[in-house]
Amino acid sequence: MASDEAVMSTNDDASQCKRFAVDKGYWIDPYISMLAMRGSDIHTPEINRGYYARVKGIHLLLEKFLKHTQCNCQVINLGAGYDTTFWQFKDKNLIPKSYIEVDFQSVTAKKCHYIKSRKRLLQNLTSEDGEIKFDHYDLHSDIYHLIGADLRNVNELEAKLKSCNVDYTLPTVFVTECVLVYMETNHSNNLIKWIADNFQTAFFINYEQVHMNDKFGQIMICNLKARQCDLPGVSACTDFQSQTQRFLTNGWEVADMVEMTHVYASLPQADVQRIEKVEFLDEHELLQQLLSHYCITYAFKDPNKIGLYTVNFSP
Ligand SMILES: C[S@@+](CC[C@H](N)C(=O)[O-])C[C@H]1O[C@@H](n2cnc3c(N)ncnc32)[C@H](O)[C@@H]1O
Repeated sequence: MASDEAVMSTNDDASQCKRFAVDKGYWIDPYISMLAMRGSDIHTPEINRGYYARVKGIHLLLEKFLKHTQCNCQVINLGAGYDTTFWQFKDKNLIPKSYIEVDFQSVTAKKCHYIKSRKRLLQNLTSEDGEIKFDHYDLHSDIYHLIGADLRNVNELEAKLKSCNVDYTLPTVFVTECVLVYMETNHSNNLIKWIADNFQTAFFINYEQVHMNDKFGQIMICNLKARQCDLPGVSACTDFQSQTQRFLTNGWEVADMVEMTHVYASLPQADVQRIEKVEFLDEHELLQQLLSHYCITYAFKDPNKIGLYTVNFSP
């Protein structure tokens, strides 16, 4: 079983890797340096390109969802860590009715502290001069909410969402970026089912590992174990079937899994060509292996037929 501290520390890794790639020029994010420390590790071009594909792939689907619903929707990022998408999208004027981030209380407490002390993060939280309410772990503004909850406990999550005035009838997109793999599959299945049971119209974007049973996947698992980080949910990261079935058997109408190799190929190619010039890449095979061991699975339920089938990686 992964210790909660080890799981929470994966947020430091993820945010430092993103900051490193941003500092190198892979993508623009003026906010990540206000939340993430500069790490001591030097990251390889493969890792930087992997993060580029991860961030851009998720943003591509999220942006399509927001545009499709004309922002008359909610965004709920589960296990958000120090994610900065809210501020990046606000700069693009893509603001949903409500944007909610959830993580363990220790993580949200630190994020609350950083937001409070960084004017640029704080200033951009509300629509106009809306009020911002803080307590130790949680933050509420008229649009943005940050709440501390354990995602393995849906009752706690439900109570916390209530404090954000969540609207179960509004189209809602959920994002889990490298999160579900850190919980047992009975817990992630429970969460996936609870969302499908409660939200009328919903879209789910899940980024995580895949093909973990092959040799490269086993090496990835060993490397994480060596850093005291187990992946209790890894059985869902076997293949297309395991990634999609957990949605289809838990109340979702449609589910598809796209390997990051394909996501990388479907990103706007002018920008891909630009980032390929940022650093020289020697190990093309390693990049392909890395990308083929991560995926974005998306699922939706659309009983009112608002057209969520259009939110995908097609141009
Ligand atoms: C690898 S980090 C990813 C952070 C962020 N999504 C990103 O990609 O930058 C995993 C995050 O999931 C959170 N997490 C994992 N299990 C959780 C749980 N049961 N309840 C709340 N948060 C959880 C961790 O605290 C951590 O912030």
